[in-house]
Amino acid sequence: MAPLPRSTIDLTGRAAIVTGAGGGIGRAVTLALAGAGARVLAVDIDERKAGETAGLATDGGGEAFAIRADVTRSDDVAGYVRAAMDRWGRIDVFMNNAGWQGPVMPLVDVPEDAFDAVMAVNVKGVFLGLKHVLPVMIAQKSGAVVNTASLAARIATRQLGPYVASKHAVLGLTRTAALEVARSGVRVNAVCPGPVDTPLMRDIEVSQSGGDFEALRKRRTSTIPQGRYATPEEVAGVMLFLASDLAAHMVGEGVNVNGGAFS
Ligand SMILES: NC(=O)c1ccc[n+]([C@@H]2O[C@H](COP(=O)([O-])OP(=O)(O)OC[C@H]3O[C@@H](n4cnc5c(N)ncnc54)[C@H](O)[C@@H]3O)[C@@H](O)[C@H]2O)c1
Repeated sequence: MAPLPRSTIDLTGRAAIVTGAGGGIGRAVTLALAGAGARVLAVDIDERKAGETAGLATDGGGEAFAIRADVTRSDDVAGYVRAAMDRWGRIDVFMNNAGWQGPVMPLVDVPEDAFDAVMAVNVKGVFLGLKHVLPVMIAQKSGAVVNTASLAARIATRQLGPYVASKHAVLGLTRTAALEVARSGVRVNAVCPGPVDTPLMRDIEVSQSGGDFEALRKRRTSTIPQGRYATPEEVAGVMLFLASDLAAHMVGEGVNVNGGAFS
């Protein structure tokens, strides 16, 4: 009798890059990848936080290292790709995750340079990651990319205009890249998390709340059918699935992870 297929996610030996690895979701997905057996390069503009994440992964018995890179800078992006290639000679998984919420204010008040800054991290950073990582994966004829979009890629939120626009753009890049590389054995997908309790979400809410953070959080929580925010680990679990062979026929998707908020 044939053995039943194993359904646990096993990424033993796969080489992975995570950007924004010092933050809430990036750290959770770095640890999830390491826990699944992958070797992980933790990338962040904050070198200390990236190092802490890699340290947590190695302390737990995984293989990881960290480098500082600003995802808005082509040289830095080429640098993290080179670092992974020098170490492992391949890139199997790319979590294109770094992001910034930007200014929290009505669109008409947003300074022009702040708009550019949000686009630089959330759109150009994702674009540069795809531009530098995909050629490696195409040459390998394998690889999986997961871009971090947002619920803000589906619906608008007042006072988050640049962020909302940037996350809609992440889905556009995801779908275009996915179509272009589908025949090469490379998959590109995205996750669209609703509110997740991370520093990014706290910064947004502190700005939006006008002083009463707890009241705002209670109000927002009540709009989520599950009645709570996601944990970074819950988002990481879906990212891990999308990067795995279990998702081998998923291409160009934006997968909602939001407790039913967009149902
Ligand atoms: N927290 C949420 O509710 C939520 C919801 C939906 C989507 N997201 C998205 O998830 C991703 C991760 O966010 P998070 O919640 O973990 O936030 P976070 O603030 O905890 O982490 C973001 C990380 O990105 C890094 N970063 C910022 N600019 C960078 C740059 N130029 N180069 C390299 N690294 C840079 C930061 O240093 C930080 O460590 C982001 O793309 C965010 O937009 C978050």
